[in-house]
Amino acid sequence: MALLIDSADITDIRRALGLGFVTGVTTNPSLIAKTGQPGMAVLQEILGLTSGPVFFQVTAGTAEGRAEQAREISRLAPQQIHVKIPATTENIALAAHLRKEGIQCALTAISSPAQAYLASLAGATYIAPYVNRLTHSLGDGVAVVRKCAAILLGSRTRILAASLKSVDEVVETLLAGAHDITIPLDLILSLGEHELSQKAIEEFAAAGQAAGPD
Ligand code: E4P
Repeated sequence: MALLIDSADITDIRRALGLGFVTGVTTNPSLIAKTGQPGMAVLQEILGLTSGPVFFQVTAGTAEGRAEQAREISRLAPQQIHVKIPATTENIALAAHLRKEGIQCALTAISSPAQAYLASLAGATYIAPYVNRLTHSLGDGVAVVRKCAAILLGSRTRILAASLKSVDEVVETLLAGAHDITIPLDLILSLGEHELSQKAIEEFAAAGQAAGPD
């Protein structure tokens, strides 16, 4: 049940990995663009920070172009990198072929249990359903995760849930059967906070002060 950071910001990634319970990094083309750096340079820098899984997306306009990109990306750290490929029938077929070359592929932007089924057949290491986006478009992104989890029972393909916007959404997604979660730093930091815990801390601190020094 791994927790990954969804970011291409090196400061955020370093902070998240430093927490000790965040064990990998996902990026996407929008996050890479925000850095203003070339994607491969950002990827190299991330690889220098972690030995955990790192996800990087292909963007070429043709299947052959995406295959070449996937080979180039994977070559940097074949055991560590999972090449993200957006889910379409053509791209799931591409993942199946790349898998035979030993390239780990993650099908991303998964929007239906049918895509999850094909991704599993293709030997994808992960599928990434975009939970909050699905809720906005279809009404219940968590339900999509639940159906994907039922279909993937016994499969080696893991569900890496993405596009999560609140602590409650993270919890509901885990309860629906997601194996792993990827979220930005601010949401990672808020997972460990609760107002009642804070209240208890303040009560204990006040009691400690009233009792005086040992
Ligand atoms: C997943 O890997 C994506 O980078 C990401 O979670 C997409 O989420 P968004 O809806 O916040 O853009």
